[in-house]
Amino acid sequence: MAESRVPRVPLAPVGTGAPRVHIWQIGCQMNVADAATLAESCAEIGMRPGAPLEEADLAILVTCAIRQHAEDKAAGKLGELAGWKRQRPGRAIALTGCMAGEHGEGLLARFRQLDYVFDMRDTDGFFARLRDTYQGCLEGPVPMPASDRLCAYLPVILGCNEMCTYCIVPFVRGRESSRPGSEVVADAARLVEGGVREITLLGQNVNSYRDPESGKGLPGLLAAVDRVPGLSRLRFLTSHPRNATEDLLQAIATLPNLCENLYLPVQSGDDDCLRRMKREYRAAEYLRILERARELVPGIGLSTDIIVGFCGETEAEFQSTYRMLEEVEFDTVHVQAYSPRPGTAAHRRPDDVAPEVKSERLQRVLALQRQISERRNRTLIGQRVEILVEGVGEDGRCFGRTRQNRLGWLASPAAPGDLVRATVLGASAWQLQCA
Ligand code: 5AD
Ligand code: SF4
Repeated sequence: MAESRVPRVPLAPVGTGAPRVHIWQIGCQMNVADAATLAESCAEIGMRPGAPLEEADLAILVTCAIRQHAEDKAAGKLGELAGWKRQRPGRAIALTGCMAGEHGEGLLARFRQLDYVFDMRDTDGFFARLRDTYQGCLEGPVPMPASDRLCAYLPVILGCNEMCTYCIVPFVRGRESSRPGSEVVADAARLVEGGVREITLLGQNVNSYRDPESGKGLPGLLAAVDRVPGLSRLRFLTSHPRNATEDLLQAIATLPNLCENLYLPVQSGDDDCLRRMKREYRAAEYLRILERARELVPGIGLSTDIIVGFCGETEAEFQSTYRMLEEVEFDTVHVQAYSPRPGTAAHRRPDDVAPEVKSERLQRVLALQRQISERRNRTLIGQRVEILVEGVGEDGRCFGRTRQNRLGWLASPAAPGDLVRATVLGASAWQLQCA
Protein backbone atom coordinates (compact mmCIF):
# COMPACT_ATOMS: atom_id res chain seq x y z
CA MET A 1 0.00 0.00 0.00
CA ALA A 2 1.42 3.38 -0.97
CA GLU A 3 -1.45 5.69 -1.58
CA SER A 4 -1.64 9.28 -2.60
CA ARG A 5 -4.95 11.11 -2.50
CA VAL A 6 -4.56 13.42 -5.49
CA PRO A 7 -2.51 13.39 -8.66
CA ARG A 8 0.02 15.80 -7.30
CA VAL A 9 1.28 18.86 -9.13
CA PRO A 10 5.02 18.32 -9.42
CA LEU A 11 6.49 19.70 -6.26
CA ALA A 12 9.35 22.12 -6.33
CA PRO A 13 10.77 22.42 -2.87
CA VAL A 14 11.38 26.07 -2.09
CA GLY A 15 15.06 26.73 -1.53
CA THR A 16 17.87 24.97 -3.26
CA GLY A 17 19.12 21.43 -3.21
CA ALA A 18 17.49 18.15 -2.35
CA PRO A 19 14.14 17.99 -0.54
CA ARG A 20 14.62 17.97 3.22
CA VAL A 21 12.85 15.38 5.35
CA HIS A 22 11.69 15.61 8.94
CA ILE A 23 10.77 12.32 10.63
CA TRP A 24 8.49 12.42 13.69
CA GLN A 25 8.06 9.25 15.67
CA ILE A 26 6.17 7.89 18.64
CA GLY A 27 5.67 4.42 20.15
CA CYS A 28 7.96 1.49 20.72
CA GLN A 29 11.54 0.66 19.81
CA MET A 30 10.36 -0.87 16.53
CA ASN A 31 9.32 2.61 15.45
CA VAL A 32 12.74 4.00 16.43
CA ALA A 33 14.28 1.36 14.17
CA ASP A 34 11.77 2.10 11.38
CA ALA A 35 12.47 5.83 11.58
CA ALA A 36 16.21 5.13 11.20
CA THR A 37 15.56 2.88 8.18
CA LEU A 38 13.37 5.53 6.55
CA ALA A 39 16.06 8.17 7.06
CA GLU A 40 18.59 5.89 5.34
CA SER A 41 16.26 5.17 2.44
CA CYS A 42 15.53 8.88 1.99
CA ALA A 43 19.27 9.56 1.81
CA GLU A 44 19.70 6.72 -0.69
CA ILE A 45 17.25 8.25 -3.16
CA GLY A 46 18.83 11.66 -2.80
CA MET A 47 16.76 13.46 -0.17
CA ARG A 48 18.14 15.00 3.01
CA PRO A 49 16.88 13.42 6.21
CA GLY A 50 17.40 14.91 9.66
CA ALA A 51 15.92 18.35 8.89
CA PRO A 52 14.18 20.36 11.63
CA LEU A 53 10.46 20.70 10.89
CA GLU A 54 10.69 24.46 10.01
CA GLU A 55 13.16 23.69 7.24
CA ALA A 56 11.60 20.48 5.95
CA ASP A 57 9.77 19.88 2.68
CA LEU A 58 8.43 16.48 3.65
CA ALA A 59 7.29 15.34 7.11
CA ILE A 60 6.97 11.61 7.77
CA LEU A 61 5.03 10.48 10.85
CA VAL A 62 5.87 7.03 12.23
CA THR A 63 2.79 6.31 14.34
CA CYS A 64 1.66 3.95 17.11
CA ALA A 65 -1.77 2.43 17.73
CA ILE A 66 -1.26 0.53 20.97
CA ARG A 67 -3.51 2.87 22.96
CA GLN A 68 -6.00 5.54 21.96
CA HIS A 69 -3.71 8.13 23.51
CA ALA A 70 -0.96 7.32 20.97
CA GLU A 71 -3.41 7.82 18.10
CA ASP A 72 -4.62 11.09 19.61
CA LYS A 73 -1.04 12.35 19.67
CA ALA A 74 -0.57 11.59 15.97
CA ALA A 75 -3.88 13.31 15.22
CA GLY A 76 -2.64 16.34 17.20
CA LYS A 77 0.59 16.36 15.22
CA LEU A 78 -1.36 16.21 11.96
CA GLY A 79 -3.38 19.22 13.14
CA GLU A 80 -0.17 21.14 13.75
CA LEU A 81 1.21 20.08 10.38
CA ALA A 82 -1.83 21.42 8.51
CA GLY A 83 -0.61 24.95 9.35
CA TRP A 84 2.99 24.01 8.61
CA LYS A 85 2.00 22.77 5.17
CA ARG A 86 0.10 25.98 4.31
CA GLN A 87 3.12 28.13 5.16
CA ARG A 88 5.05 27.02 2.10
CA PRO A 89 3.82 25.57 -1.18
CA GLY A 90 5.21 22.19 -2.05
CA ARG A 91 5.30 20.78 1.45
CA ALA A 92 3.95 17.25 1.93
CA ILE A 93 3.00 14.93 4.78
CA ALA A 94 3.35 11.14 4.86
CA LEU A 95 2.19 8.71 7.54
CA THR A 96 3.33 5.17 8.30
CA GLY A 97 3.65 2.87 11.34
CA CYS A 98 0.85 1.13 13.19
CA MET A 99 -1.91 3.64 12.42
CA ALA A 100 -1.26 3.04 8.72
CA GLY A 101 -1.62 -0.71 9.33
CA GLU A 102 -4.84 -0.12 11.26
CA HIS A 103 -6.69 2.48 9.15
CA GLY A 104 -4.91 2.36 5.77
CA GLU A 105 -6.09 4.80 3.14
CA GLY A 106 -9.07 5.79 5.28
CA LEU A 107 -6.69 8.28 6.89
CA LEU A 108 -6.41 10.27 3.66
CA ALA A 109 -10.10 11.09 3.80
CA ARG A 110 -10.02 11.85 7.53
CA PHE A 111 -6.98 14.12 7.43
CA ARG A 112 -7.15 16.25 4.28
CA GLN A 113 -3.64 17.61 4.88
CA LEU A 114 -2.17 14.12 4.54
CA ASP A 115 -0.58 13.23 1.19
CA TYR A 116 0.66 9.67 1.60
CA VAL A 117 -0.11 6.66 3.74
CA PHE A 118 2.19 3.66 3.43
CA ASP A 119 2.93 0.38 5.16
CA MET A 120 6.43 -0.15 6.58
CA ARG A 121 6.38 -3.68 5.14
CA ASP A 122 6.17 -2.24 1.65
CA THR A 123 8.06 1.01 1.30
CA ASP A 124 9.05 0.53 -2.38
CA GLY A 125 5.86 2.11 -3.71
CA PHE A 126 6.28 5.10 -1.42
CA PHE A 127 9.87 5.71 -2.45
CA ALA A 128 9.01 5.27 -6.15
CA ARG A 129 6.39 7.98 -5.72
CA LEU A 130 8.87 10.28 -3.98
CA ARG A 131 11.31 9.76 -6.85
CA ASP A 132 8.59 10.75 -9.33
CA THR A 133 7.41 13.71 -7.32
CA TYR A 134 10.81 15.20 -6.67
CA GLN A 135 12.55 14.21 -9.90
CA GLY A 136 15.02 16.86 -10.88
CA CYS A 137 15.61 17.94 -7.28
CA LEU A 138 17.18 14.75 -5.97
CA GLU A 139 20.89 14.75 -5.32
CA GLY A 140 21.55 11.16 -4.85
CA PRO A 141 22.64 9.42 -2.98
CA VAL A 142 23.21 11.98 -0.26
CA PRO A 143 25.57 10.60 2.38
CA MET A 144 23.81 10.07 5.71
CA PRO A 145 24.89 12.68 8.25
CA ALA A 146 27.77 11.15 10.22
CA SER A 147 26.05 9.13 12.91
CA ASP A 148 27.23 9.31 16.46
CA ARG A 149 24.85 6.51 17.33
CA LEU A 150 26.36 4.17 19.90
CA CYS A 151 23.23 2.12 20.51
CA ALA A 152 21.06 0.76 17.71
CA TYR A 153 17.89 -1.29 17.39
CA LEU A 154 17.86 -4.14 14.92
CA PRO A 155 14.50 -5.76 14.01
CA VAL A 156 14.81 -9.55 13.69
CA ILE A 157 11.18 -10.67 13.73
CA LEU A 158 8.19 -8.67 12.58
CA GLY A 159 4.57 -9.16 13.61
CA CYS A 160 3.03 -11.32 16.27
CA ASN A 161 1.07 -14.61 16.20
CA GLU A 162 -0.21 -14.37 19.77
CA MET A 163 -3.79 -13.36 20.21
CA CYS A 164 -3.75 -11.43 23.49
CA THR A 165 -7.30 -10.14 23.62
CA TYR A 166 -6.40 -6.50 24.38
CA CYS A 167 -3.71 -6.11 21.73
CA ILE A 168 -3.90 -4.51 18.31
CA VAL A 169 -0.36 -5.46 17.26
CA PRO A 170 -1.27 -8.67 15.34
CA PHE A 171 -3.81 -6.66 13.33
CA VAL A 172 -1.52 -3.79 12.46
CA ARG A 173 1.82 -5.56 12.17
CA GLY A 174 0.62 -8.87 10.74
CA ARG A 175 1.82 -12.41 11.33
CA GLU A 176 5.28 -13.28 12.54
CA SER A 177 8.03 -13.26 9.98
CA SER A 178 11.66 -13.85 11.00
CA ARG A 179 14.59 -12.45 9.07
CA PRO A 180 17.38 -14.84 8.02
CA GLY A 181 20.09 -14.95 10.69
CA SER A 182 22.81 -14.32 8.08
CA GLU A 183 21.14 -11.00 7.18
CA VAL A 184 20.84 -10.01 10.83
CA VAL A 185 24.52 -10.77 11.48
CA ALA A 186 25.53 -8.79 8.37
CA ASP A 187 23.41 -5.82 9.54
CA ALA A 188 24.97 -6.05 13.00
CA ALA A 189 28.48 -6.03 11.52
CA ARG A 190 27.60 -3.00 9.37
CA LEU A 191 26.24 -1.15 12.41
CA VAL A 192 29.38 -1.89 14.43
CA GLU A 193 31.53 -0.71 11.54
CA GLY A 194 29.56 2.56 11.62
CA GLY A 195 30.45 3.06 15.29
CA VAL A 196 27.61 1.29 17.10
CA ARG A 197 28.70 -0.45 20.33
CA GLU A 198 25.41 -1.79 21.65
CA ILE A 199 22.74 -3.59 19.60
CA THR A 200 19.24 -4.49 20.74
CA LEU A 201 17.54 -7.21 18.69
CA LEU A 202 13.87 -6.35 18.31
CA GLY A 203 10.58 -8.09 17.87
CA GLN A 204 7.08 -7.71 19.32
CA ASN A 205 7.58 -11.33 20.33
CA VAL A 206 11.34 -11.57 19.89
CA ASN A 207 11.83 -14.93 21.53
CA SER A 208 9.52 -16.54 19.01
CA TYR A 209 12.28 -15.89 16.43
CA ARG A 210 13.08 -18.82 14.12
CA ASP A 211 15.76 -18.52 11.45
CA PRO A 212 14.02 -19.42 8.16
CA GLU A 213 17.31 -20.86 6.85
CA SER A 214 18.72 -22.85 9.77
CA GLY A 215 15.59 -23.31 11.87
CA LYS A 216 17.48 -22.04 14.94
CA GLY A 217 15.70 -19.99 17.57
CA LEU A 218 16.65 -16.76 19.34
CA PRO A 219 19.44 -18.30 21.50
CA GLY A 220 21.27 -19.34 18.28
CA LEU A 221 20.87 -15.88 16.78
CA LEU A 222 22.09 -14.22 19.98
CA ALA A 223 25.17 -16.46 19.96
CA ALA A 224 25.94 -15.48 16.35
CA VAL A 225 25.49 -11.72 16.90
CA ASP A 226 27.40 -11.88 20.19
CA ARG A 227 30.48 -12.89 18.17
CA VAL A 228 30.42 -9.85 15.84
CA PRO A 229 33.86 -8.28 16.27
CA GLY A 230 33.88 -4.88 17.95
CA LEU A 231 30.42 -5.22 19.53
CA SER A 232 30.45 -4.40 23.26
CA ARG A 233 26.89 -5.16 24.24
CA LEU A 234 23.88 -7.08 23.02
CA ARG A 235 20.27 -6.97 24.25
CA PHE A 236 16.88 -8.20 23.01
CA LEU A 237 13.23 -7.25 23.50
CA THR A 238 10.34 -7.89 23.98
CA SER A 239 9.93 -11.50 25.15
CA HIS A 240 6.77 -13.53 25.70
CA PRO A 241 6.82 -15.73 28.82
CA ARG A 242 5.60 -18.66 26.72
CA ASN A 243 8.91 -18.70 24.82
CA ALA A 244 11.22 -17.90 27.73
CA THR A 245 13.04 -21.22 27.45
CA GLU A 246 15.90 -22.66 29.46
CA ASP A 247 18.15 -22.17 26.38
CA LEU A 248 17.38 -18.49 26.36
CA LEU A 249 18.20 -18.10 30.05
CA GLN A 250 21.41 -20.10 29.50
CA ALA A 251 22.35 -17.72 26.69
CA ILE A 252 21.98 -14.75 29.07
CA ALA A 253 24.11 -16.58 31.61
CA THR A 254 26.92 -17.47 29.21
CA LEU A 255 27.27 -15.13 26.20
CA PRO A 256 29.90 -12.53 27.06
CA ASN A 257 28.36 -9.48 25.38
CA LEU A 258 24.73 -10.32 26.01
CA CYS A 259 23.61 -8.15 28.93
CA GLU A 260 22.14 -9.57 32.11
CA ASN A 261 18.68 -8.29 31.53
CA LEU A 262 15.26 -9.75 30.73
CA TYR A 263 12.21 -7.79 29.66
CA LEU A 264 9.30 -10.14 30.18
CA PRO A 265 5.83 -8.53 30.20
CA VAL A 266 3.45 -10.30 32.60
CA GLN A 267 0.46 -7.92 32.12
CA SER A 268 -1.36 -9.23 35.23
CA GLY A 269 -0.54 -11.30 38.28
CA ASP A 270 -4.00 -12.86 38.41
CA ASP A 271 -4.85 -16.15 36.69
CA ASP A 272 -8.45 -15.23 35.84
CA CYS A 273 -7.36 -11.95 34.36
CA LEU A 274 -4.54 -13.68 32.44
CA ARG A 275 -7.10 -16.12 31.05
CA ARG A 276 -9.34 -13.28 29.87
CA MET A 277 -6.28 -11.70 28.29
CA LYS A 278 -5.45 -15.06 26.62
CA ARG A 279 -1.89 -14.90 27.85
CA GLU A 280 -1.51 -18.71 27.86
CA TYR A 281 0.40 -18.97 31.16
CA ARG A 282 -0.42 -18.86 34.86
CA ALA A 283 1.13 -16.48 37.38
CA ALA A 284 2.96 -19.38 39.07
CA GLU A 285 4.57 -20.45 35.78
CA TYR A 286 5.71 -16.90 35.17
CA LEU A 287 7.24 -16.73 38.65
CA ARG A 288 9.12 -19.98 38.04
CA ILE A 289 10.77 -18.50 34.94
CA LEU A 290 11.98 -15.49 36.92
CA GLU A 291 13.18 -17.71 39.74
CA ARG A 292 15.22 -19.78 37.27
CA ALA A 293 16.55 -16.59 35.62
CA ARG A 294 17.76 -15.30 38.99
CA GLU A 295 19.27 -18.67 39.84
CA LEU A 296 21.27 -18.80 36.58
CA VAL A 297 22.08 -15.09 36.41
CA PRO A 298 22.36 -13.56 39.88
CA GLY A 299 21.68 -9.82 39.77
CA ILE A 300 19.85 -10.04 36.42
CA GLY A 301 17.85 -6.89 35.60
CA LEU A 302 14.14 -7.71 35.33
CA SER A 303 11.52 -5.55 33.62
CA THR A 304 7.86 -6.08 32.93
CA ASP A 305 4.70 -4.50 31.55
CA ILE A 306 1.42 -4.30 33.46
CA ILE A 307 -2.04 -3.35 32.24
CA VAL A 308 -4.38 -2.09 34.97
CA GLY A 309 -8.14 -1.86 34.62
CA PHE A 310 -8.52 -4.57 31.99
CA CYS A 311 -12.18 -5.59 31.34
CA GLY A 312 -13.65 -7.04 34.50
CA GLU A 313 -10.53 -6.51 36.66
CA THR A 314 -11.75 -6.67 40.26
CA GLU A 315 -9.98 -5.13 43.23
CA ALA A 316 -8.97 -8.67 44.30
CA GLU A 317 -7.47 -9.36 40.87
CA PHE A 318 -5.58 -6.11 40.99
CA GLN A 319 -4.33 -7.09 44.47
CA SER A 320 -2.83 -10.28 42.98
CA THR A 321 -0.86 -8.16 40.53
CA TYR A 322 0.21 -5.81 43.30
CA ARG A 323 1.40 -8.71 45.43
CA MET A 324 3.35 -10.16 42.52
CA LEU A 325 5.14 -6.84 42.07
CA GLU A 326 5.97 -6.79 45.81
CA GLU A 327 7.20 -10.35 45.66
CA VAL A 328 9.32 -10.16 42.50
CA GLU A 329 10.76 -6.68 43.00
CA PHE A 330 11.30 -5.86 39.32
CA ASP A 331 13.86 -3.25 38.37
CA THR A 332 11.50 -1.56 35.93
CA VAL A 333 7.73 -1.75 35.53
CA HIS A 334 5.89 -0.12 32.63
CA VAL A 335 2.28 0.28 33.67
CA GLN A 336 -0.60 1.37 31.46
CA ALA A 337 -4.33 1.76 31.93
CA TYR A 338 -6.30 -0.53 29.62
CA SER A 339 -7.39 1.21 26.43
CA PRO A 340 -9.95 -0.65 24.27
CA ARG A 341 -8.76 -1.12 20.70
CA PRO A 342 -11.27 -1.60 17.89
CA GLY A 343 -11.07 -5.00 16.22
CA THR A 344 -9.55 -6.82 19.21
CA ALA A 345 -11.43 -9.56 21.07
CA ALA A 346 -11.54 -7.52 24.28
CA HIS A 347 -13.20 -4.65 22.45
CA ARG A 348 -16.38 -6.74 22.43
CA ARG A 349 -16.36 -6.89 26.24
CA PRO A 350 -17.51 -3.97 28.34
CA ASP A 351 -14.70 -1.62 29.34
CA ASP A 352 -16.16 -1.70 32.82
CA VAL A 353 -13.41 -0.43 35.11
CA ALA A 354 -14.12 3.25 35.75
CA PRO A 355 -11.43 5.71 34.55
CA GLU A 356 -10.83 6.93 38.12
CA VAL A 357 -10.31 3.34 39.31
CA LYS A 358 -7.87 2.68 36.46
CA SER A 359 -5.98 5.80 37.29
CA GLU A 360 -5.92 5.02 41.03
CA ARG A 361 -4.54 1.50 40.35
CA LEU A 362 -1.95 2.96 38.01
CA GLN A 363 -0.83 5.39 40.71
CA ARG A 364 -0.61 2.59 43.28
CA VAL A 365 1.66 0.58 40.99
CA LEU A 366 3.85 3.59 40.27
CA ALA A 367 4.19 4.45 43.97
CA LEU A 368 5.05 0.85 44.87
CA GLN A 369 7.58 0.53 42.08
CA ARG A 370 9.28 3.80 43.00
CA GLN A 371 9.96 2.41 46.49
CA ILE A 372 11.14 -0.93 45.11
CA SER A 373 13.42 0.60 42.48
CA GLU A 374 14.95 2.91 45.05
CA ARG A 375 15.51 0.09 47.53
CA ARG A 376 17.04 -2.16 44.86
CA ASN A 377 19.30 0.57 43.51
CA ARG A 378 20.51 1.43 47.01
CA THR A 379 21.73 -2.14 47.52
CA LEU A 380 24.23 -1.42 44.71
CA ILE A 381 26.01 1.32 46.68
CA GLY A 382 29.66 0.36 47.04
CA GLN A 383 29.50 -2.13 44.17
CA ARG A 384 31.32 -1.94 40.84
CA VAL A 385 29.23 -1.57 37.68
CA GLU A 386 30.06 -1.40 33.98
CA ILE A 387 28.73 1.66 32.17
CA LEU A 388 28.67 2.23 28.43
CA VAL A 389 28.94 6.01 28.19
CA GLU A 390 26.23 7.33 25.87
CA GLY A 391 26.40 11.08 26.25
CA VAL A 392 27.27 14.18 28.26
CA GLY A 393 24.69 15.97 30.42
CA GLU A 394 24.22 19.72 30.77
CA ASP A 395 26.49 19.80 33.82
CA GLY A 396 29.34 18.19 31.85
CA ARG A 397 29.02 14.79 33.52
CA CYS A 398 28.84 11.68 31.38
CA PHE A 399 25.90 9.28 31.56
CA GLY A 400 25.25 5.81 30.30
CA ARG A 401 23.65 2.50 31.20
CA THR A 402 24.78 -0.46 33.23
CA ARG A 403 24.52 -3.97 31.79
CA GLN A 404 21.27 -4.34 33.76
CA ASN A 405 20.01 -1.21 31.98
CA ARG A 406 20.18 1.23 34.92
CA LEU A 407 20.96 4.84 34.16
CA GLY A 408 24.28 5.87 35.71
CA TRP A 409 26.01 9.27 36.02
CA LEU A 410 29.79 9.45 36.22
CA ALA A 411 31.70 11.95 38.36
CA SER A 412 34.99 10.88 36.78
CA PRO A 413 36.04 12.00 33.27
CA ALA A 414 34.97 9.80 30.35
CA ALA A 415 33.79 10.12 26.75
CA PRO A 416 30.83 8.73 24.80
CA GLY A 417 31.64 5.22 23.60
CA ASP A 418 33.85 4.38 26.62
CA LEU A 419 33.10 1.23 28.54
CA VAL A 420 33.85 2.29 32.11
CA ARG A 421 34.02 0.34 35.35
CA ALA A 422 32.84 2.54 38.19
CA THR A 423 31.79 2.36 41.83
CA VAL A 424 28.23 3.24 42.81
CA LEU A 425 28.32 6.08 45.35
CA GLY A 426 24.65 7.01 45.52
CA ALA A 427 21.31 5.80 44.21
CA SER A 428 17.74 6.97 43.74
CA ALA A 429 14.78 5.19 42.17
CA TRP A 430 15.75 5.99 38.59
CA GLN A 431 19.50 6.59 38.60
CA LEU A 432 22.89 5.75 40.05
CA GLN A 433 25.66 8.20 40.91
CA CYS A 434 29.05 6.64 40.18
CA ALA A 435 32.75 7.46 40.15
N1 5AD B 1 -4.26 -1.01 26.54
C1 5AD B 1 -3.27 -0.72 27.43
N2 5AD B 1 -2.02 -1.20 27.31
C2 5AD B 1 -1.77 -2.03 26.28
N3 5AD B 1 -0.65 -2.67 25.91
C3 5AD B 1 -0.92 -3.38 24.81
N4 5AD B 1 -2.20 -3.21 24.44
C4 5AD B 1 -2.75 -2.38 25.34
C5 5AD B 1 -4.05 -1.83 25.50
N5 5AD B 1 -5.05 -2.12 24.67
C6 5AD B 1 0.59 -2.60 26.67
C7 5AD B 1 1.06 -3.99 27.10
C8 5AD B 1 2.21 -4.25 26.18
C9 5AD B 1 2.76 -2.86 25.95
C10 5AD B 1 3.59 -2.71 24.73
O1 5AD B 1 1.60 -2.05 25.86
O2 5AD B 1 1.48 -3.91 28.45
O3 5AD B 1 3.17 -5.12 26.74
FE1 SF4 C 1 2.78 0.88 19.14
FE2 SF4 C 1 2.73 -1.77 19.10
FE3 SF4 C 1 3.00 -0.47 16.88
FE4 SF4 C 1 5.01 -0.49 18.62
S1 SF4 C 1 4.15 -2.25 17.49
S2 SF4 C 1 4.28 1.25 17.54
S3 SF4 C 1 3.83 -0.43 20.54
S4 SF4 C 1 1.22 -0.47 18.21
